[in-house]
Amino acid sequence: MPFDRYNRNIDYLRISLTDACNLRCVYCMPEKMTFRPREELLSDDELHRLIGLFAAVGFRKIRFTGGEPTLRPALVDLVGHAARTPGIETIGLTTNGILLDELAAPLRAAGLRSVNISLDTLDPEKFRQITRWGKLERVLAGLDAAARAGLRVKLNAVVSRGNNDREDVVALARYTLDQPWQVRFIEQMPFGNNAGFQTQSMVTEEELHAVLTAAYGPLELVNHGRLDGEARLYRIAGAAGCIGFISPVSKPFCADCNRLRLTAEGLLRLCLLRDTEVDLRPLLRGGADDAAITARIREAVFDKPWGHGLEQHLIPSTRGMSEIGG
Ligand code: 5AD
Ligand code: SF4
Repeated sequence: MPFDRYNRNIDYLRISLTDACNLRCVYCMPEKMTFRPREELLSDDELHRLIGLFAAVGFRKIRFTGGEPTLRPALVDLVGHAARTPGIETIGLTTNGILLDELAAPLRAAGLRSVNISLDTLDPEKFRQITRWGKLERVLAGLDAAARAGLRVKLNAVVSRGNNDREDVVALARYTLDQPWQVRFIEQMPFGNNAGFQTQSMVTEEELHAVLTAAYGPLELVNHGRLDGEARLYRIAGAAGCIGFISPVSKPFCADCNRLRLTAEGLLRLCLLRDTEVDLRPLLRGGADDAAITARIREAVFDKPWGHGLEQHLIPSTRGMSEIGG
């Protein structure tokens, strides 16, 4: 099993399949974006190879992210490949849901069991404003298809002050009353040149907890507060699903971090909020054998940093969320 120098068991790899996206969420990227050319991204074969090597090192969970991972033509095959890889026990997908309508059933058949859908509001006009050009009905169709295909559903909402910090939070949480879903609220994190906006409009868990309590009464803590992944879970009395808070800014969960991230062009990012990276692509394209790549992966795991530096105003600058995969 892979352990880092702080004795954390690192067994979860998040793989960004592309930096491109079919939305332009205001907190994530500017409207005019240029994305990396296809040849800079790892190929499907390179990803197959790496998934096998990570599994052999002891990684047990893979999540495909983006940008928007459903834009990757081979997504269903990649999920199938990961599902067939000995050692990989759990496969996740984080998507904006725009293309999920048609993909949910094939993804389920390929071995996906759960999906995280990013959805910040249930108001169509506000959804368009936040995503700049998204159609809410597409995401709702994707959500419906996911539930019908038998995928476990988690909804992720990034909360920005003035965008979706009140009624929208209450409306999203209402899903949990009769759906067995997790609806999770994420504190907005600062990245690079968007850090000013992201910091100023961040809304804390504490504040959202108060908004939800005012609407639904006291929330019951689930699992004695033990984190589910990165989320602290609560339940509205009698509800079918849970409300989760993901609070990297106000309540960092670095002690429980078990993950590395692989960017679409093959950089291993050791912490979401630090710019420490290990480039695997030169090894992959330079003829390195499996032993050499495995050794590099083990070293990277060992070197995983502790703690982000947001309180010291250390803000990651080399790439934004869409180039890391969240
Ligand atoms: N802070 C927190 N979450 C973010 N996401 C995008 N940008 C940020 C940010 N600055 C979220 C998306 C999606 C996931 C991939 O990351 O909304 O849910
Ligand atoms: Fe795309 Fe997700 Fe960024 Fe929105 S937050 S632009 S859906 S990558």
